[in-house]
Amino acid sequence: MQLSVANSIIQLLPKFLAKGTTVRSRRAVGGAKGSDKAAANPLLPLQLLAVLAVIAWTLFLYLQFSVLSASVEVVEVVEVSDGAADSADPCRGRYIYVHDLPPRFNADIIRDCRKTEDHWGDMCGFVSNAGLGRPLADPTDGVITGEAGWYGTHQFGLDLIFHNRMKQYECLTNHSAVASAVFVPFYAGFDFTRYHWGYDNAARDAASADLAEWLMARPQWRRMWGRDHFLVAGRTGWDFRRSSNVDADWGNDLLAMPAGRNMSVLVLESTLLHGSDYSVPYPTYFHPRSDADVLRWQDRARAQNRTRLMAFVGAPRPDADARMNIRVRDHVIAQCKASSTCGLLACARSPGSPQCHAPGDIMRLFQKASFCLQPPGDSSTRRSVFDSMVAGCIPVFFHTASVYKQYRWHLPNKDHLNYSVYIPEDDVLKRNVSIEAVLRSIPAEMVERMREEVINLIPRVLYADPRSKLETIKDAVDLAVEGVLDTVARIKRGEYVDSGRPVSEDPPNMYFSTESRFGPKPKSVVTRMMIRFKQWIKGPQ
Ligand SMILES: *[C@@H]1O[C@H](CO)[C@@H](O)[C@H](O)[C@H]1NC(C)=O
Ligand SMILES: *[C@@H]1O[C@H](CO)[C@@H](O)[C@H](O)[C@H]1NC(C)=O
Ligand SMILES: *[C@@H]1O[C@H](CO)[C@@H](O)[C@H](O)[C@H]1NC(C)=O
Ligand SMILES: *[C@@H]1O[C@H](CO)[C@@H](O)[C@H](O)[C@H]1NC(C)=O
Ligand SMILES: *[C@@H]1O[C@H](CO)[C@@H](O)[C@H](O)[C@H]1NC(C)=O
Repeated sequence: MQLSVANSIIQLLPKFLAKGTTVRSRRAVGGAKGSDKAAANPLLPLQLLAVLAVIAWTLFLYLQFSVLSASVEVVEVVEVSDGAADSADPCRGRYIYVHDLPPRFNADIIRDCRKTEDHWGDMCGFVSNAGLGRPLADPTDGVITGEAGWYGTHQFGLDLIFHNRMKQYECLTNHSAVASAVFVPFYAGFDFTRYHWGYDNAARDAASADLAEWLMARPQWRRMWGRDHFLVAGRTGWDFRRSSNVDADWGNDLLAMPAGRNMSVLVLESTLLHGSDYSVPYPTYFHPRSDADVLRWQDRARAQNRTRLMAFVGAPRPDADARMNIRVRDHVIAQCKASSTCGLLACARSPGSPQCHAPGDIMRLFQKASFCLQPPGDSSTRRSVFDSMVAGCIPVFFHTASVYKQYRWHLPNKDHLNYSVYIPEDDVLKRNVSIEAVLRSIPAEMVERMREEVINLIPRVLYADPRSKLETIKDAVDLAVEGVLDTVARIKRGEYVDSGRPVSEDPPNMYFSTESRFGPKPKSVVTRMMIRFKQWIKGPQ
């Protein structure tokens, strides 16, 4: 009986303390000054201490327990309520506050979508349907259609998709004081596009500088100097880091600005320069609305009859002979052309044609192939990697920066060869290794296991339709938010965090012994001399 009274007092405590903290957080939301004052106000903790003391004494007198054991209990209660949220709250530690930016940072930029027409084609068709683009219509088998979640999504459309998708995030809060991270819905990628051609660097940087000024004047900034803020810049990091680029005219300098360096900036390809640009998958054409959509698609990917060993979709880069990692692409295309088992959708590169093939044709080819060749393009990463994985096609990489050093929140961080094949570009460029021979040398049951890995990874690289919500499956946005929250938590603990992953080991070259088409390399002069020297040492037998 005495014990139950003690328990009820202890149970009341967290409620009382929680009340105290909500008052505090509400005040904190009131404004910059308010938040500082509330945080620094010594009165509240004093009041709490007084209350704790009275309760401890009451317990002592009532129960005639030792003061020590009662105060130990009280201390535990204080720890539980210290997080400003109930420990049973499933959103605890996951609340996100979304900045209500003036429209010049997002909606107005979308209204400028026709501005890009002269160089990259009109982006307006790609901003419909919450950023997914036009619904696809599949005349062949009626599977890749808008009703089934397929859209003509632009590879650089993520700014808008992510923003809309965040509206479905389950732990949003309007009280920035309880938020663990702050989302900044600035359309950095679209901003790049509208000012890229025909403007000077000042025009390119204007919106980013304006944004930095706006953010730094907000009370939320001062809490962690922006280190708990994140935004999405749906292009490669090189587009936002002009000062590190070879071309002093390429891109804006968002990532190099003091405010840009403090925020986490989610890009499609990290520059891996130990900065604040974290990579997230390129958007694909598939945007499911429910868990069932995802599961149905995975089953379809498993059931495909893959009649081709390999496939490639993309344009050659004949102008890029000085850069090795681009040159490998032309070798890949040449090998694919020469192979009867390789499906090829080659296309000429013409300005103003952002996609050289109908998405339906690309997806149909990828579903028919066991392996999809993914040599680097203008940069190390490709949208096609994600399209092919969604089709259940095992990616073949020629460069470790294509995926293995990127996408740490979305793809495995080790054992990369469980879901992909790695043929170092030098094998193709210098040894003229046959990609077909390499792929044929992989045992069938291993191919089966790798494909299952790829199919299991599909949900992780998908952006669900922002107008609905997957029930239990985590999509690329869920994983990105988890990554941001983890990053902020580590910064709070005082860890040094940046986006350049710790140098991980490259995967081993499994196919080094695969013969090139023209037989093994002749032994070098040095090797021949060594052999002769060893024979000489051994003497005549
Ligand atoms: C935040 O406030 C807006 C406008 O008052 C409201 O529409 C929205 O539902 C609120 N969000 C949350 C998570 O409470
Ligand atoms: C960025 O964060 C550091 C602390 O990590 C802070 O000293 C600096 O002032 C911040 N920069 C801006 C622009 O707020
Ligand atoms: C694959 O081939 C089998 C046997 O030829 C056939 O029964 C099945 O329908 C095919 N599956 C697909 C998805 O085309
Ligand atoms: C890769 O595959 C091996 C063998 O099946 C397994 O033991 C290992 O856990 C896998 N690694 C990852 C990261 O899934
Ligand atoms: C590599 O193989 C291709 C295809 O057989 C051949 O045409 C080409 O000449 C070879 N290149 C070199 C450098 O041996």
